[in-house]
Amino acid sequence: MRTDVGALKGRRVLVAASGSIAAVKTPLLVSGLVQAGAEVRCLLTPSAEQLVSPVAMATLSRHRCYRDQDQWDPSRSRPLHIELAEWAELMVVAPLSATTLGRWSQGLADGLLASTLLACERPVLAAVAMNTAMWRHPAVQANWESLQRLPGVIPLSPTAGLLACDRLGDGRMADPLQIELAVAALFSRQEAELSVDRSWSGRRLLVSAGPTLEAIDAARLISNRSSGRMGVLLAQVARLRGADVELVHGPLQVPQAWLEGLDCEPVESAEQMQQALHRRQDQASALAMVAAVADLRRSDGGLPSKPPKSGLPQLFEQGWEPMPDLLRGLVDRRPAGQRILGFAALTGADHDLLMRGGQKRAGKGCDLLMVNPIDRAGEGFGENQASGWLLGDGLQQRVPLKSKLAVAHHLLDALGELLKTTTSC
Ligand SMILES: Cc1cc2nc3c(=O)[nH]c(=O)nc-3n(C[C@H](O)[C@H](O)[C@H](O)COP(=O)(O)O)c2cc1C
Repeated sequence: MRTDVGALKGRRVLVAASGSIAAVKTPLLVSGLVQAGAEVRCLLTPSAEQLVSPVAMATLSRHRCYRDQDQWDPSRSRPLHIELAEWAELMVVAPLSATTLGRWSQGLADGLLASTLLACERPVLAAVAMNTAMWRHPAVQANWESLQRLPGVIPLSPTAGLLACDRLGDGRMADPLQIELAVAALFSRQEAELSVDRSWSGRRLLVSAGPTLEAIDAARLISNRSSGRMGVLLAQVARLRGADVELVHGPLQVPQAWLEGLDCEPVESAEQMQQALHRRQDQASALAMVAAVADLRRSDGGLPSKPPKSGLPQLFEQGWEPMPDLLRGLVDRRPAGQRILGFAALTGADHDLLMRGGQKRAGKGCDLLMVNPIDRAGEGFGENQASGWLLGDGLQQRVPLKSKLAVAHHLLDALGELLKTTTSC
């Protein structure tokens, strides 16, 4: 599943791999970025070359792959590490080994990758990978912490799972799809020059996403077309901007890799979603209710049996109740200072959206409401793009059609501004 083709078109990304076995996944990342339209150059350390072929990297990036010995090519009139550092709009180190991490955090420049990292004045995404014991070693942790204090570094922490050393634990490199998502999110900011925004550091964002499922009987369900894409992307963009993010979600139609790094709680019904959100709400500085909650449910919670098809018309005629308004309930019980963004998926012309959106916001009492049309080609449920109107106190702002990653930045900017005017939380 491609992330945001528009955001990467023509953007210059330098992908470097150091000597971790996770380097076998770097060609997938390169291929994904190239398919999304990025211009990619590759660089391998001598150890990485033992694990992944420079020919594979050259073929997939459509350009030669740089290696340590190229730094000493006497035909070069400018140092290669300077040229590469100046060429790149963004550098990605995936995987980042313990050795390269140590060199970088301590300012050592031996080798092409280490010297390019020190020469690079653009943002660097760093996806660390190593055995769990190595990762937990205090010296490695100290280096990782000092790296995070460097301006321009976007750290992608390792995930937990089965490692190549047969150990279950932390140390796996972020999935190539997750790294590609982070790259696209950075380029979706729509600024002339890429910058690292950590404006959500120290804040906790609670997000709901996806549809809910309501049981009709033992086999049948009521749901809607929400894929969960907007909510998951909002959660990931907030994480990249420094927030601690919790995600309560119904069944999603997004790559599993997009959930990495989020504190996720999967649920099915609206009632489960409500319970999970209430349990987590008090700790959150802000809440984004992006989930598409079903509008109806059976008052009996769903029949335990499966009536035959002939009994369905009768089943649909009675025994239903409107869903309680989850967003209204969250607004009513929020702690002081918490800011709440709601979503309303509507159909119709712009003036209908504005009128009904305004009524909805008044009824729900949330700080912001993103009203988005779901009956226009290429946007809304399951699509890469969205548009609409952002409504708030004295605010009626057109959000032009753009990628959901760019919409996520837009909404986080607006929510972030509101949080600045908040005294507690
Ligand atoms: C098969 C193999 C797998 C390795 N995997 C890792 C790894 O996942 N992470 C790591 O930090 N080092 C790993 N190492 C050790 C590094 O390759 C070694 O520290 C090397 O000096 C790294 O150099 P570089 O950072 O310049 O590429 C591995 C070594 C071997 C032989």
